[in-house]
Amino acid sequence: MKSISGKALCKTDKHPNLEVKNQAMYLKNNTSSKQPENPRSPIFSSCSIINRDFSDNFRLYQSDESIFPIYMLGDVTEVLKELPTESIDFCMTSPPYWGKREYDAGGIGLEENFNTYVDNLCSVFSEVYRVLKKTGSFWLNIGDSYYHKNLLGLPWRIALSLTDDQGWILRNSIVWNKVKGGLDNSKDRLRNIHENIFHFVKSPKGYYYDIDSIRSSPRKTKVVNGSVVSATGVTGVRYKRKIELSTELSENEKRNAYNALEEILRQVSNGDISDFRMIIRGQQRITHSNSEKVSGRAKELKEKGFYFLKYHPKGSKPSDVWEILPEDTQKRELHFAPYPVDLCKIPISSTCPPNGIVLDPFCGTGSTMLAAQLLGRKSCGIDISERYLIIAKERNETIL
Ligand SMILES: C[S@@+](CC[C@H](N)C(=O)[O-])C[C@H]1O[C@@H](n2cnc3c(N)ncnc32)[C@H](O)[C@@H]1O
Repeated sequence: MKSISGKALCKTDKHPNLEVKNQAMYLKNNTSSKQPENPRSPIFSSCSIINRDFSDNFRLYQSDESIFPIYMLGDVTEVLKELPTESIDFCMTSPPYWGKREYDAGGIGLEENFNTYVDNLCSVFSEVYRVLKKTGSFWLNIGDSYYHKNLLGLPWRIALSLTDDQGWILRNSIVWNKVKGGLDNSKDRLRNIHENIFHFVKSPKGYYYDIDSIRSSPRKTKVVNGSVVSATGVTGVRYKRKIELSTELSENEKRNAYNALEEILRQVSNGDISDFRMIIRGQQRITHSNSEKVSGRAKELKEKGFYFLKYHPKGSKPSDVWEILPEDTQKRELHFAPYPVDLCKIPISSTCPPNGIVLDPFCGTGSTMLAAQLLGRKSCGIDISERYLIIAKERNETIL
């Protein structure tokens, strides 16, 4: 079969059953002994677009070594129904906005009523719930819409319906600050430059989460002239001087503060912490509540005369506000709403195990799949538009 761009599509009818079966047997025979020379792709030796037998092809892909994405062409609800229960490790997607764009092949987002749109999306996500493993994560990026000048709050309507009616657990609501917005000529409201990203899991405990994989790299301590210097140049000399000169600390408190400082410097030199700040009563502007009822730090300051802020030796974890520029659509006129590959990197690294399978049920031009491939994960994308899947496949092939 030929695609609209004239390129041959890799559909199942291009994989005669016999050939696939033989290859599957080849795989079986080899798993117990040595790995194939090129560990990447005995069957799916490049990205594939599949338009039927989704279940069989998915099972083949599961047992295959390849990290090339597979793409499934069809209506999301129909395709998802064929995927095995609890077979997916991670799902991230950005469904169509309501009433804003007309995509290549129609689909969700064109409903007359926004309630029908919410219902349609929620029924897709109940299938996502079924196919996701108990340890899995679902990240949903979704934009809002206005109706009769009223901001509908669609992201939260959907999020609450998922937690209240389907049993999802919402772990984070991330604000994606797009920094620059689209063209906005309205004179009676602010420019909108953010979207929501929700992180859902299926159970409160035991879901896969590798926090260390997304920490910013910590700055290291070093030794200068025989003294330990923390990541930001703290040696302790300045704090020792402050303790000595303090008019607010009693002699006893000074002794305790000094000993505690020595202990912290020892932890820095051992690499147990990478940096610290020492807050001494009466010497710094207080940045937290002064009330000891509200703030444990205020209590420490009152009772001991000092406290420490310690920095994690493995670096700090990202916050729930992400500043990421939107994808440059200039070079991809064929699709109106791709999201940036960078948006998927924290979610995949932290919540998809290295040997896991990523799913994007509205994959469009395949940004999620591209991120998965760059991070060494297998992935499966679904879209109703053949044209977008061809663009997606071509994008994946640029990083082969
Ligand atoms: C916002 S776009 C996704 C963009 C994608 N994140 C990217 O980076 O290119 C939403 C996609 O959902 C697809 N879509 C809409 N309704 C669908 C349906 N019923 N089944 C499958 N795909 C559908 C559209 O074709 C469109 O590509």
